[in-house]
Amino acid sequence: MGADLAEVLIPPDRLQGRIAELAAQIDADYADRELLLVGVLKGAVMVMADLARAMRLPVQMDWMAVSSYGSGTKSSGVVRILKDLDCDITDRHVLVVEDIVDSGLTLSWLVRNLQSRGPASLQVCALLRKPSAARVDIDVAYTGFDIGDAFVIGYGLDYAERYRNLPFIGTLAPHVYGGGPDGTETTTLAAGAAAAEEPVPRGASGNTL
Ligand code: IMP
Repeated sequence: MGADLAEVLIPPDRLQGRIAELAAQIDADYADRELLLVGVLKGAVMVMADLARAMRLPVQMDWMAVSSYGSGTKSSGVVRILKDLDCDITDRHVLVVEDIVDSGLTLSWLVRNLQSRGPASLQVCALLRKPSAARVDIDVAYTGFDIGDAFVIGYGLDYAERYRNLPFIGTLAPHVYGGGPDGTETTTLAAGAAAAEEPVPRGASGNTL
């Protein structure tokens, strides 16, 4: 893996520190309510597991899997449910846990879909947010870090299903995506990789995209 990695953007201790802050904020906000965490597979597996363990409130957990990226690396806005929730969220307090908001198309579709099921409340926690997310009108109550446009991997996030188990968020070395046989993802990823920026921790609540 060493040679495939361009840069460690967010090391494990910064991830865990920020997740502990988010967990404390969520604990305080939901102190008198029963909370259901809804993780979005597969990318949110790590943040969901660490966030839930950092919280003091007893929570329930459920999972959804959606597909948004057809063959390229940009959301089409056409989202398909691959795995739906096991539970009924009518009158429940729901917090959607996402790995990253990029175009925001997946999340806005998901929020609309879940909202139509009649939850008592519905909020979103996203570990990472890219600049393009600012162009979409989604309210993300809890954001971990604002990052640049670089395509990131690790801590649940993949490139072609690899690198999810890295304990940090990193960027890929150009040779990993630069010489792909079909060439379909080269432009997007190369542009992103060049734009790696220092991640900025966000205030724990009230960020409107
Ligand atoms: P959006 O609809 O453009 O916001 O895309 C959201 C989904 O795209 C995320 O849940 C990720 O699965 C995936 N995604 C977006 N950016 C990245 C990235 O930099 N690395 C890995 N996956 C990403």
